[in-house]
Amino acid sequence: MGDGAVGALGMTVPVVQAPIGGAATPQLAAAVSGAGGLGMLALSWSDPAQIRSAIERTGALTSRTFGANLVLDRPQFERLELCLAAGVRVISTFWGDPAPYSAPIHAAGALHLHTVASAAEARRAVAAGVDVVVAQGWEAGGHVWGEVGTLALVPAVVDAVHPVPVIAAGGIADRRGLAAVLALGAVAGWIGTRFLLAEESGAHPGYRAAVAAAAETDTLLSELFDGGWPDAPHRTLRNSTVREWLAAGSPPPGSRPGEGEQVAVRRGEPQLRYSSDIPTTGVEGDVEAMVHYAGQGVGLVRDVKPAAEIVRELVGGRRLRSVTLPRHEGRKATFRPCGGRKVAFLPSPRPRPVLPSSLLGESG
Ligand SMILES: Cc1cc2nc3c(=O)[nH]c(=O)nc-3n(C[C@H](O)[C@H](O)[C@H](O)COP(=O)(O)O)c2cc1C
Repeated sequence: MGDGAVGALGMTVPVVQAPIGGAATPQLAAAVSGAGGLGMLALSWSDPAQIRSAIERTGALTSRTFGANLVLDRPQFERLELCLAAGVRVISTFWGDPAPYSAPIHAAGALHLHTVASAAEARRAVAAGVDVVVAQGWEAGGHVWGEVGTLALVPAVVDAVHPVPVIAAGGIADRRGLAAVLALGAVAGWIGTRFLLAEESGAHPGYRAAVAAAAETDTLLSELFDGGWPDAPHRTLRNSTVREWLAAGSPPPGSRPGEGEQVAVRRGEPQLRYSSDIPTTGVEGDVEAMVHYAGQGVGLVRDVKPAAEIVRELVGGRRLRSVTLPRHEGRKATFRPCGGRKVAFLPSPRPRPVLPSSLLGESG
């Protein structure tokens, strides 16, 4: 297994299951971590009881490291404290300034991952204390932070923050995409849309069917599904809500077709047409009209499979290569991820350059 970030992240293969809202169930995160990748919980909107329960359930299903994601469009210090207190040692942040979060994350002996969309932002994140940078390309499903495609973004970010490890996100849906981002200098792929079709995902069967049927041309980047998260561009499938809005001439909020209309029910709670919440298992009603986040890699996503099988297919025998974790060079930090397996920050004796020849790792 690689040392540094990868050792600390507890991975043996270069696959991170991206936080994908309510589809990122404990079962999914545990299955991905159990398969040697890194499973992530998405806890940005969860209350304290839900946070504790999700972390506890994940820890009961795997002894391997898993992470938690917090979206910084709102203060997340309380949720962060709960995650750290519950033993999570990999924290990812997105959509805001990571700087105030690094100190508490490091004080708990945890690693800080932050998602960026440019080289300049990556440099700022590292200066602020971020340990591992996630570079999210424009192809990505869900909320999209920047405007640069994965192919151009990843090497720019890799060069900007070298030797800090970079994980690539956006449009990676099969082993060819994963091989491509490793060739660009990423240490791993951060994969969302593909895992919507994992057996363990919490995505509603209707949402999964739409993902499985979609072509790479079937997504749209808009700010349409703004209920609960306004002014935030996101990539979704062109479902009936999107089509009707486009047909009406893309009117602004307040005058969109079916504004304020209830389309479904989640545990007794009405779900409005332009809500930013995805349909998860158990939602009842016009599920098709609800937001269907998906990246442009959706055209490659066809079948529902156990998450471990998806991980195996993605890596095709590829192992993680060695990378350094400069911020922790020489530091004797160890931590115990949920479930008890001890994982150490393993400082390299010397910083190792990231060489193109080493990028694709071993296979077979
Ligand atoms: C259904 C869905 C929900 C998402 N929710 C989150 C989230 O809660 N937090 C976050 O940081 N990113 C979220 N994202 C973005 C992903 O973390 C990731 O950047 C993206 O899925 C990568 O692109 P891909 O879908 O092409 O693999 C979401 C993506 C999807 C598809």
